Amino acid sequence: MPSAVERPFGLLAELTYRCPLHCSYCSNPLDLAAYADELTTAEWRRVLTEARELGVLQLHLSGGEPLLRRDVAEIVQCAGELGLYTNLITSGLGLTPHRAEELLAAGLDHVQISLQADEAALSDRIAGVRSFEHKLAAARLVKQLGWPLTLNVVLHRHNVDRLAGILDLAEQLEADRIELAHTQYYGWALHNRGGLLPSRAQLERAQEVVRAAHARLQGRVDVVYVLPDYFSRYPKPCMGGWGRRQLTVVPDGGVLPCPTAHTLPLPRASVREHSLAWIWERSPLFQRFRGTDWMPEPCRSCDRREVDFGGCRCQAFQLTGDAARTDPVCHLSPDHGLVAEAVAAADEGARSGEVVLTPRRHPAAGRSR
Ligand code: SF4
Ligand code: FES
Repeated sequence: MPSAVERPFGLLAELTYRCPLHCSYCSNPLDLAAYADELTTAEWRRVLTEARELGVLQLHLSGGEPLLRRDVAEIVQCAGELGLYTNLITSGLGLTPHRAEELLAAGLDHVQISLQADEAALSDRIAGVRSFEHKLAAARLVKQLGWPLTLNVVLHRHNVDRLAGILDLAEQLEADRIELAHTQYYGWALHNRGGLLPSRAQLERAQEVVRAAHARLQGRVDVVYVLPDYFSRYPKPCMGGWGRRQLTVVPDGGVLPCPTAHTLPLPRASVREHSLAWIWERSPLFQRFRGTDWMPEPCRSCDRREVDFGGCRCQAFQLTGDAARTDPVCHLSPDHGLVAEAVAAADEGARSGEVVLTPRRHPAAGRSR
């Protein structure tokens, strides 16, 4: 391997984009039907073997809803035999006692369950389907079977005022960790941005609640709060840098430096055509924004260029039409006005109470493995 290329640490395996939920903040591709020809179990075995050889240590099994694949336990077992730490990222729907026992026997290490709110009516409205009670049952099952449990809550205008209740629920469920991450505006979420962005007043209240929870839950529940980047002065170091620490394999075998890079006008890479090592080290897709040589001003001469890597390429593309520009979230970006306008519009929308949300729509089911 060329010495300049670091080794990936984590692999996000998006096993299927089929999903029982219809969240209006979904960041999966808009054209889900294009991913219906999912990798077979044997293909996933090869991908995991190559990933381990490349240096990957952590495997995150996600989707859509990964439990809609009948072979998740086989994939977990294969990963465990290779020495990978396995994390199942699930809505909780489909985590029946039988499936859970199967995954436990296969050696699954960790479970992460998404929550939408702290009470059924709001949670089910956000998820677009009755799911809250199933999620609670799944979380209790995870703890009964002795797994570490992480709860993940995507925050937005409709649930951020429920944060205190959400944290109480995490405590009752004996979660080991709760990740409170504001919506990232890609895919369906960008479509709904006007109805999802919180107001500044909501954010200030949320920060107070999180501060108090940190003190109260210390040593019991690890509370991780991720500020929405639209409200920050500097962008997030997306993926820890392009092609630097993480890679994503999507249901049909496409390989991406981040889960939304399929939106960018860049060459494709697939495990059906190349080895994972070739894709990581040599593919034009992974090389395009690696390091700092590609950067324009103001990033090129900025002290923070190796801290945030110029922010997020997908966000730069979605907001400016050019993936090589500085992320407009950065207050130094010449395009920062695009973000400032969206934030001002969110404040105005919160004042007028105007909300328009379109639930995620799914195509007819793809090929089931
Ligand atoms: Fe980061 Fe570029 Fe902004 Fe500097 S100018 S803080 S490198 S995004
Ligand atoms: Fe693609 Fe940030 S989400 S680079």
